[in-house]
Amino acid sequence: MTVDRVSFIAVCALALLLTLPGGDAAADAHGAKNKNTVLITGANRGLGLEFARQYAADGWHVIGTARKPAQADALNELDVRVLQLDVTDRDSVAALAASLGDAPVDVLINNAGIFPRVNTIENVDYDDYMRTLAVNTAGPMLVTAAVLPNLRNGARKKIINITSRLGSIELNDGSNFYGYRESKAALNMLSKTLAGELGVEGFIVLALHPGWVATDMGGASAPLTPEQSVTAMRSVIDGLTPGDSGGYRSYEGKVEPW
Ligand SMILES: NC(=O)c1ccc[n+]([C@@H]2O[C@H](COP(=O)([O-])OP(=O)(O)OC[C@H]3O[C@@H](n4cnc5c(N)ncnc54)[C@H](OP(=O)(O)O)[C@@H]3O)[C@@H](O)[C@H]2O)c1
Repeated sequence: MTVDRVSFIAVCALALLLTLPGGDAAADAHGAKNKNTVLITGANRGLGLEFARQYAADGWHVIGTARKPAQADALNELDVRVLQLDVTDRDSVAALAASLGDAPVDVLINNAGIFPRVNTIENVDYDDYMRTLAVNTAGPMLVTAAVLPNLRNGARKKIINITSRLGSIELNDGSNFYGYRESKAALNMLSKTLAGELGVEGFIVLALHPGWVATDMGGASAPLTPEQSVTAMRSVIDGLTPGDSGGYRSYEGKVEPW
């Protein structure tokens, strides 16, 4: 047999393999599962890091952002793509979008946040107050707008805004977390508004309360570990249907009062 004839038979065999049911189709299905991409802001510590860890372990393509990637040791140890992002810096947000190109993003988790502990109105510092609104409210708005083309290219089209029960006006018991409460109440409103605008395109937008969790923000006496909270939140995110869009839920999937 000549070399040409051997090559011809090899090409035919390959073509046959690629058209066999269960061969290429099965590979595609498997590949598609692994091609799910999640983008998580503030992924270098706390809940963001745990989201990155769990999604990566589950075979997702994870993009985790950090303000200082070179110092994000725990995140860099994971099998994730680490990108720089300060959600209050418009150049940084634009650079993130440029780095993504037209790559699809299936799920965006607006997780980055800060929590100034301010308990009396006389102690409110204007600059801290405005910074809290910038990080917790304007940040998710800027990031969502910048990543929207990538979300449109994704299959799941989910936008998850990590909020807090402290953002509920109805549940406000009088504890005075100035700035933080307002920032999360406004984030809830942003979620609802996004759900209204983007629903026709099949987007699902949720304001998701993670519970009180033992991170730098939550403190050591919090009843939930990041692993428990994120496991539960991932289950909620995974089970979302279009009818859930515009909702406000806890990590247990319970509907929260606005
Ligand atoms: N822990 C709780 O009990 C609890 C309860 C309710 C809601 N939440 C919410 O859950 C989310 C995560 O909280 P956490 O407990 O994981 O907090 P955390 O441990 O303090 O982590 C906060 C993350 O946000 C990042 N971040 C802060 N400012 C940023 C900015 N300007 N740009 C980009 N990233 C920024 C931090 O990055 P750096 O390391 O660079 O500062 C860090 O990665 C927050 O939205 C928080 O409000 C938490």
